[in-house]
Amino acid sequence: MKVTIVGAGNVGASCADVISYRGIASEVVLLDIKEGYAEGKAMDLMQCATNTGFNTQIIGVTNDYSKTANSDVVVITSGIPRKPGMTREELIGINAGIVKSVAENILKFSPNTIIVVVSNPMDTMTYLTLKATGLPKNRIIGMGGALDSSRFRYYLSKALEKPSNDISAMVIGGHGDTTMIPLTRLASYNGIPVSEFLSQEALDKVAADTMVGGATLTGLLGTSAWYAPGASVAYLVDSILNNQHKMIACSVLLEGEYGQSDICIGVPCIIGRNGVEQILNIELNDSEKEKFAKSVDAIRNMNADLAS
Ligand code: NAI
Repeated sequence: MKVTIVGAGNVGASCADVISYRGIASEVVLLDIKEGYAEGKAMDLMQCATNTGFNTQIIGVTNDYSKTANSDVVVITSGIPRKPGMTREELIGINAGIVKSVAENILKFSPNTIIVVVSNPMDTMTYLTLKATGLPKNRIIGMGGALDSSRFRYYLSKALEKPSNDISAMVIGGHGDTTMIPLTRLASYNGIPVSEFLSQEALDKVAADTMVGGATLTGLLGTSAWYAPGASVAYLVDSILNNQHKMIACSVLLEGEYGQSDICIGVPCIIGRNGVEQILNIELNDSEKEKFAKSVDAIRNMNADLAS
């Protein structure tokens, strides 16, 4: 199985690290525009092979898409973060140009691939990729919910003082500080609702911490995080390549689900060898519906910037 990661920066390289270490794919191509950068990352990662015991072949290339041919999955982590003084529209304009050209180049050599979009603003970039490529909706998946859900479980585990692996919890909605919706009502510890253990006030704090989870890390690190984002992409890629049918919150095109159409937003999906195998319609309560509607509005506004 072959995975290409376009953008060998922090998230892309971390994703390659987890994919190889866990043997998720036999071949990983890292591609970047910076001369020699992907080659360097690939060489560094390959030098882990003997000490960590993996067999995945990782190669790095500078802009040579022919080496990405016949990829089963392509991950797009290329793009720039917002810089001081830059407007949101400018960031969208730059990243939209990058993501669109990357998707076009990829499809020349891997016409049947599944594309995982990571670049921000992720929901809008996923929508753009879908519109620009015309691919069926099952083959374009935005990664954000997997990361936000793992951060949600982290904050729940801290509040509960229990291991996060015993906790089930999901974040839906947009992949943004104000647009994501941690579903505290449905979170559970070993199958028991977390509301049995935590007060509403504690749960509200967990949700609030989750929503600014990325910003908290940016404040500490001086740049956005990469270990958990990389691992979250690898988790999603694993479910695709190895047909695991995991339920993962992903940004996907809605066509009537949750009362919405023509938008990519995070909802629970079954992810397997065909990409999005199914979108699950969970019953939201009135407050969750209201938050979902606000999230939809924010993403639609952002999508409108694509046209400007
Ligand atoms: P980074 O700056 O470390 O890496 C980005 C890489 O993309 C750089 O190496 C750059 O040279 C490369 N690049 C730029 N234009 C390219 C092009 N046209 N073709 C090939 N490569 C190109 O950034 P980082 O931290 O890895 O983040 C990457 C993206 O992922 C950002 O947009 C970031 O906001 C987003 N992100 C999304 C998350 C999510 O949950 N969806 C989580 C974390 C980051």
